[in-house]
Amino acid sequence: MSDKNSKKLWGGRFKSGSSDVTERLSQSIAFDSKLYRQDIRGSKVHAGMLNKMGILSDGEYSDIVKGLDGIEKEIESGSFDFQTSREDIHMNIEATLTERIGDAGKRLHTGRSRNDQVATDVRLYVKDESVKIGALLKDLINLLIDISEKNIDIILPGYTHMQVAQPVRFSHHMMAYAWKFSRDLRRLRSSADAADFLPLGCGALAGVNYKNDREYLRENLGFSDIIMNSMDAVSDRDFVLDFLYFSAVIGTHMSRFCEELILWSTSEFNFIRLSDSVTTGSSIMPQKKNPDVAELIRGKTGRLYGNLFTLLTILKGLPMTYNRDLQEDKEPLFDSIETVGLCLEGMIEMLSGMEIKKDVMKSAVYRNFSTATDLADYLVKKNVPFRESHEISGSIVKFCEEENRDFFTLTLEDLKRFSSVFESDITAILDPACSTERKESAGSTSQSQVLEQIDILKKRIND
Ligand code: ARG
Repeated sequence: MSDKNSKKLWGGRFKSGSSDVTERLSQSIAFDSKLYRQDIRGSKVHAGMLNKMGILSDGEYSDIVKGLDGIEKEIESGSFDFQTSREDIHMNIEATLTERIGDAGKRLHTGRSRNDQVATDVRLYVKDESVKIGALLKDLINLLIDISEKNIDIILPGYTHMQVAQPVRFSHHMMAYAWKFSRDLRRLRSSADAADFLPLGCGALAGVNYKNDREYLRENLGFSDIIMNSMDAVSDRDFVLDFLYFSAVIGTHMSRFCEELILWSTSEFNFIRLSDSVTTGSSIMPQKKNPDVAELIRGKTGRLYGNLFTLLTILKGLPMTYNRDLQEDKEPLFDSIETVGLCLEGMIEMLSGMEIKKDVMKSAVYRNFSTATDLADYLVKKNVPFRESHEISGSIVKFCEEENRDFFTLTLEDLKRFSSVFESDITAILDPACSTERKESAGSTSQSQVLEQIDILKKRIND
């Protein structure tokens, strides 16, 4: 056996060493060192089980725990010597432990395979990171609720097809995103639930020749249940897909929001002003204030989609059970975790400092016939059939456009030429400020309905 492979933890059956390119392809330590905490937690509990089973003596068990604690501290302080030839985080930790404590370290891998070990580490990692992302996401939702409460009565045009449609409350618009993010939180939680099943104790694929106490492992690693099929346990990464899907969807929501913030901060819209802390200048055009944070969040959504498709593609052709391709699950996962966290922080920073230009928003509602539907409904209440009232309302818009006038400049005589049923109560109907209050359906943009949805979401998020 060559020197090179004799040093490997799996080197026994090899005559010659792996080539340089094999080593470079094989290694994952460059990215999976992130899993050290979960790997050490898993090894300690596994060692506890082996001790209970009489495979490790009390002394050996305590040496392993102390050894692993020491390694954890070194990794945290940055002084641990990671070796590429040791492939991954699991073998780096185990080999260093064995160098330090001898035989006890060599017994640690009894009744375990790297296949159930890595699946356990990744599941623990997804669970841990979901808690952090969940907290950020809750902060964002609460911020949107807060902005909505503080600006409950500001109105702006609501759009369909990017054309002015009907007046809406700014708070209603913000709450639309808050609801989307609340569903993202549910998706995040369900992906964490999917990760919450224990693979450890299954060995390489078939189970092990020891009476592993998987219930002990489950309880001490904090999983809610165990995976009941050892082949399933080591072969799937569907829980990672769930997380990546959550990331892709929240990316879509953040990206759409950013697109609006970018649009609203243009001089043409001028609905908001983003703070200096989230904008940048141009090296050539002195007047520029660019919404880079919003653009970058919108742009980063691309990699969130890419990561989901990367893993779907990796998984689609894999026969049972573990195949080395599965090592490629980590970079997309780590990247999406980091990207979603960073983007959420960016969203929070951007929205906290956003100046809302309520007068500009209001004048946009007054300019664009946003109450044409209210005008039609007014006629319906005066017993004109809706199709006819729609036609009349449309001709009034056409008339105003031709005359270059707004609704509010029309006198009762002007209106009577289109229908005899118009009376002086029409003035209030044409006023966009009154339009939102006339919305009576549940979930609408009237003040009482917006306050009610705020109340409901607040309870849902914070309970
Ligand atoms: N680094 C490997 C991975 O991430 C660990 C499992 C290796 N298992 C094996 N049979 N080579 O998938």
